[in-house]
Amino acid sequence: MTGAGADSLRTALVRHLTAAGTIHDARIAEAFRAVPRHLFVPHVPLEVAYADDVVPMKQDRTGVLTSSVSQPSIMALMLQQAAIRPGDRVLEIGSGGYNAALLRELAGPAGAVTTVDIDADVTRRARAFLDQAGYGDVAVVQADGEFGDPARAPYDRIVVTVTAWEVAPAWVRQLRPGGRVVVPLRVRGQTRSVAFDLVEEHLESRSTTMCGFVSMQGAGAHYERYEYGLMYDEDQEGEPHPDVLELRRECEWSGLQVHREEPLLDLYLWLACKLPGYCVLDSEGVPAVATADSLAYVSRRPGRDKSHVELGCSAHGPEAHVLIDRVLGQLRSWEGQRPMFQVHAMGAELPPGFHIARRHSYITVQWEA
Ligand SMILES: C[S@@+](CC[C@H](N)C(=O)[O-])C[C@H]1O[C@@H](n2cnc3c(N)ncnc32)[C@H](O)[C@@H]1O
Repeated sequence: MTGAGADSLRTALVRHLTAAGTIHDARIAEAFRAVPRHLFVPHVPLEVAYADDVVPMKQDRTGVLTSSVSQPSIMALMLQQAAIRPGDRVLEIGSGGYNAALLRELAGPAGAVTTVDIDADVTRRARAFLDQAGYGDVAVVQADGEFGDPARAPYDRIVVTVTAWEVAPAWVRQLRPGGRVVVPLRVRGQTRSVAFDLVEEHLESRSTTMCGFVSMQGAGAHYERYEYGLMYDEDQEGEPHPDVLELRRECEWSGLQVHREEPLLDLYLWLACKLPGYCVLDSEGVPAVATADSLAYVSRRPGRDKSHVELGCSAHGPEAHVLIDRVLGQLRSWEGQRPMFQVHAMGAELPPGFHIARRHSYITVQWEA
């Protein structure tokens, strides 16, 4: 297909993202119109390059995806969160080239963009693609992004395009006062992109959106722990009973009706903050609570019409009814509150809220009506 084909596919992609309400900022629409995405994914047909989908770039030896050019709609949402202004100095963690080019468009001639990737294959490719597409002034650095890029700091904006378990201390140090870091943060089995502003010494969230990215490698790599089909974050303790699912199942319903398609991330995080023993049923991503001899988890059944389901709780083991009462109590007490996040360094005074320990910091969750 000719260059004109790429141009019309690109226009159609921007029209689609705008019509869907994903892009609502004219500068971001302009950046998407300007950057030739197909030059960053030359191994796929034009239609694939301009579909609203992720393009896989590299897998490890076990077949796990380690690098990709991200889905345009996720990029658009994160760029809107980042609110990059002309003249901003921007650091991107995780390179593909394409997003760095979008960042370059947004930062404009007076701004500067640096992109860091841990993988030399990725930086080599990103360098070549950026040069070819006319973005030779984007700095491409091969390094562990956990440590940012001190050589070009400070930054007005840091955009992380790989799943992180915490906001690395180096990113906070390398931000200008009032600067913003946008990061896909993994907490209790769920990933959401959080835009944090630097307020004095700590970070406060300004917006969040659901997303999915490959996992961070290097010094910031993190591991979920799997125990008998249950998933725990590194900081969580828990020793569930191996055969508990074989015990008789009890079940009760909450009366809480939710839309079948509604992503229940906020509700699940609410449960994670309120229920000791919280974990996630590994196979389905379902919230659960485990004690040494019992296990409870959120269940669904058809709701008042085809588009709704009712949430309830199933449980096994001697404490089944106690756990069911706890889970139903928290399901019923959730009134659609949204989480706000803060990040404080270890040792700093913490605000009220639910605190999740990471290696270098606490993530504090607070709830707003
Ligand atoms: C989803 S891709 C980045 C997509 C890219 N921003 C784009 O333009 O589409 C995630 C990248 O993060 C990289 N990565 C993983 N761990 C990293 C680390 N510690 N530091 C820097 N890059 C890392 C991977 O090698 C991978 O290329």
